[in-house]
Amino acid sequence: MQTPPVLEELVATCKAALDDDSPHNTIHAAMRELFVDPVALAAQVPRFAEDEIETSPRGFRLGGEHVAHRDEHLTVMVLDTLPGTIQPPHEHNMNVVIGVFEGAEEQRFWARTENGIAPAAGRTLETGDVMPLGVRGIHAISAPAGRPARAIHVYLGDIYSVERSVFDPETLEEHLFTGERYDEFCQVAESA
Ligand SMILES: [Fe+2]
Repeated sequence: MQTPPVLEELVATCKAALDDDSPHNTIHAAMRELFVDPVALAAQVPRFAEDEIETSPRGFRLGGEHVAHRDEHLTVMVLDTLPGTIQPPHEHNMNVVIGVFEGAEEQRFWARTENGIAPAAGRTLETGDVMPLGVRGIHAISAPAGRPARAIHVYLGDIYSVERSVFDPETLEEHLFTGERYDEFCQVAESA
């Protein structure tokens, strides 16, 4: 995928917001404005070709990922989530804003406790929804059967180099996040 102009504009807006007192609030507001018309937005973001969607070593096909911008302060990407996989709980250690412009993204949450993490109420991001997730947020994403999600994820840092955790979905044991661990902790969704 080539970065479309609409995403280049969003990246410019996010970069400008980094000088604000609360960049994540400014970016959240800009994302809400962008997602007021998700159909128009979807029409401006190219679809991933089949060969752009990776199959993981363990055989999971999570969805396409296109990084429109990455530096130490900001990562902006188009992220598809395909039904069929329950992705594992993980944290980001930075503020995140997620907007869904097609399909739906199921969000499950956990909160840190004295001795680990515990499940919290989840929600489904429907088409047009924009959700901020705080620095301490722990979530897991999946897509409902038949409703693959197309989304924009904005991270207020370099999501590919930050040290963060991924959790075993069965035991909730905490591990250092690596691509291999993430793949190991993916589960087949029974409804798909
Ligand atoms: Fe995430």
